[in-house]
Amino acid sequence: MEVLRLENISKVYSQKTVSLQALSHVGLSVQKGEFIAVLGRSGAGKTTLLNMIAGIDVPSEGEVFIEGTNIAVLDEKKRTLLRREKIGFIFQAYELLPALTVLENIKLPQLKKEDGYIKELLDILEIGKYGKFYPDQLSGGQKQRAAIARALVNHPAVILADEPTGNLDSKTERIVIDLLKAMAKRYKASVILVTHNEKLVKDADRTIRFEDGEIING
Ligand SMILES: Nc1ncnc2c1ncn2[C@@H]1O[C@H](COP(=O)(O)OP(=O)(O)OP(=O)(O)O)[C@@H](O)[C@H]1O
Ligand SMILES: [Mg+2]
Repeated sequence: MEVLRLENISKVYSQKTVSLQALSHVGLSVQKGEFIAVLGRSGAGKTTLLNMIAGIDVPSEGEVFIEGTNIAVLDEKKRTLLRREKIGFIFQAYELLPALTVLENIKLPQLKKEDGYIKELLDILEIGKYGKFYPDQLSGGQKQRAAIARALVNHPAVILADEPTGNLDSKTERIVIDLLKAMAKRYKASVILVTHNEKLVKDADRTIRFEDGEIING
């Protein structure tokens, strides 16, 4: 089953004096539960692509379908709701709010109260005892595991992970990627993992390589 489809996506950033084509005619179909690795040099357009999928920014051309819904036809409010319901985000710098505990951070985007589910997420991610800790009391790997729990809190169809292990050592990277894969499999979420680490390609069902805003392999 297709959960995400991109059709002919282009993105041009136009400022006063410069115009930059960040994405050129990108097409992509993602199946339910698929784990996709996205590689490409800095500036190739990887983060721009994730922003188009999440509806954080709008393409200059082309369309994004999430579970068959064209997000361009939604108003801002509906698009925000669809993003919260269907998409989970994981960032390189974790982006946990420092004034909130781990548990409060994870619950923040939650649409429906499900305390049992949150406990299950924390237990599987082995951070059950850190719920009342603040982010700066956790290691990088623990912070990213909390961010994985937050990304899963609304049972997303797609998890977008933008260099989630960029700040971690290779051993912790392995632990985080293995957990991300296991969680995605368990909860039947598709994953788009942006990474600079070629070694993670073998973890993916499919690898997409980006160059100058274009996909250079099938
Ligand atoms: N808001 C913006 N305004 C103008 N140009 C932008 C904006 N965001 C990105 N760009 C440009 O679009 C291109 C693609 O940027 P993007 O952040 O998608 O690259 P990336 O592949 O994620 O790189 P990195 O690996 O360094 O994170 C870059 O040339 C960048 O300068
Ligand atoms: Mg980026």
